Amino acid sequence: MPDGHNRPRGAAVDTTPRLTPLPEDGWAPSTRELLTPIARDRDGRVANVFTTLVRHPELFRRFLPFGGYLLRDGRLPARTRELLILRTAYNTGAGYEWGRHVPLARAAAVTDEEIRRVAAGPDAAGWAPADAWLLRAADELHRGASLSTATWSALAADHDEAQLIEITMLVGQYHMVAFFLNSAGTRLDPGYELHTLPATVGREHPAAPAAQHPAPPSVGRLAGRNVLVIGAGTRPSEDSAAPVGNGRAVAVLAAREGAAVACADISSPAAAATAALVGEEGGRAVTVSGDATDPDQSSAMIAEARCGLGALDAIVVNVGIGLGTGLADTSAQEWEQVMAVNLRAPFLAAKYGLPALADGGAIVFVGSVAGLRAATNSPAYDSSKAGLFGLVRHVAKEGAPRGIRANLVVPGLIDTPMGREASAGRASRTASFTRIPLGRQGTAWEVAEAVTFLLSDHASYITGQSLVVDGGLSVV
Ligand SMILES: NC(=O)c1ccc[n+]([C@@H]2O[C@H](COP(=O)([O-])OP(=O)(O)OC[C@H]3O[C@@H](n4cnc5c(N)ncnc54)[C@H](O)[C@@H]3O)[C@@H](O)[C@H]2O)c1
Repeated sequence: MPDGHNRPRGAAVDTTPRLTPLPEDGWAPSTRELLTPIARDRDGRVANVFTTLVRHPELFRRFLPFGGYLLRDGRLPARTRELLILRTAYNTGAGYEWGRHVPLARAAAVTDEEIRRVAAGPDAAGWAPADAWLLRAADELHRGASLSTATWSALAADHDEAQLIEITMLVGQYHMVAFFLNSAGTRLDPGYELHTLPATVGREHPAAPAAQHPAPPSVGRLAGRNVLVIGAGTRPSEDSAAPVGNGRAVAVLAAREGAAVACADISSPAAAATAALVGEEGGRAVTVSGDATDPDQSSAMIAEARCGLGALDAIVVNVGIGLGTGLADTSAQEWEQVMAVNLRAPFLAAKYGLPALADGGAIVFVGSVAGLRAATNSPAYDSSKAGLFGLVRHVAKEGAPRGIRANLVVPGLIDTPMGREASAGRASRTASFTRIPLGRQGTAWEVAEAVTFLLSDHASYITGQSLVVDGGLSVV
């Protein structure tokens, strides 16, 4: 039954449960007796899986000893058991199973990096061969209900007969439980919701339609992701009431959505200020500085960010400048400077970033409506921003085999220090707003929303595209 278990995931966690847990104040004495042996969660509750399954008391009574044996008294080392369970939870889209077993895996010395890597599968770089065989076993049982000769032999080198039996039965048991949890729509218990199931797009079954792998819901759209923002600072402004810039808003919103953020900028103080804001959101931040137009520095910033965060799931390239006025008053040097920041830096970030990104990652470039129309007085700016449309298509093509998506966000008139500077020479800043169908400038937060969406699994089937955030400016 190849791929037979790749059913839609949404019903498992996103909808009203089809079967609700029995509330404790309504437990009959026989129910209470059945649930008494279960260890309670820290908040004193019995986990939803049990208080739901107990709706079938006879089955529950027989299920419990087997499940309890596998979990507590089986012959497999705890780490082996948890790797098999996490991979099965991932394969079956069982968010409940995943969420409950992340803490158990940690307790069994599976590192957070390994937990993330479970989603990337047995062939991901970094696994010890014995661990890779375990994940492969879980995959083969999931897809074909049997172990290949190679996998059986490899496992037999480390496990005795009883353990081999237990591996197959454990994976089977957790499939069975996943079927129940996914069908009943059992919700994760309080305190476990942060451990969200990683997305599957482009990893396990690259040829499978993405519609079969809708993004799992999470408390934050970027929960657990490691995001590098290049150009994360905001340019200095004399206006004390100046709004936040696009890069800073992206970094802060990414943190708000659950990401750890590497804030990279040519200006260390600007990067550090953004990192401090990320920290205020409760996010983990690292600061990286360097010139994104320089190949060595670009490559070093990406390596530092990856090292500082432990892994890299996404890169946002926000750097951008505008120089020159008209063809006559744009020097060749200004042209080169603009091209370096607006086009070479994104190219370098993609060149060095793609190999550094985890499979299934995402890149977002920040362009401009100036790439769609002659929107500014700077031919260099307009041309460089037009170039990003070509670059993003190419990056999408090269990233796709590893499930890495690349997209372009195209802001219109945005109220940022950069936007204010760009329109400072005009007699009236607000006069141009009348051309915008929505009648106002955008904010950096509105740009950041688009970036966050494209980074997240909510955009899992979108790559090589541009998303225009301009209040309708470019369509009239
Ligand atoms: N504000 C707008 O109206 C508007 C409109 C359309 C597009 N955009 C685009 O948005 C992006 C910038 O938005 P912002 O508000 O964050 O601008 P910003 O200038 O405030 O921030 C950009 C950051 O990038 C950094 N940077 C510049 N060159 C760098 C380099 N070589 N290496 C590393 N860091 C470098 C700067 O120090 C700065 O902190 C640009 O790509 C711009 O073209 C802005």
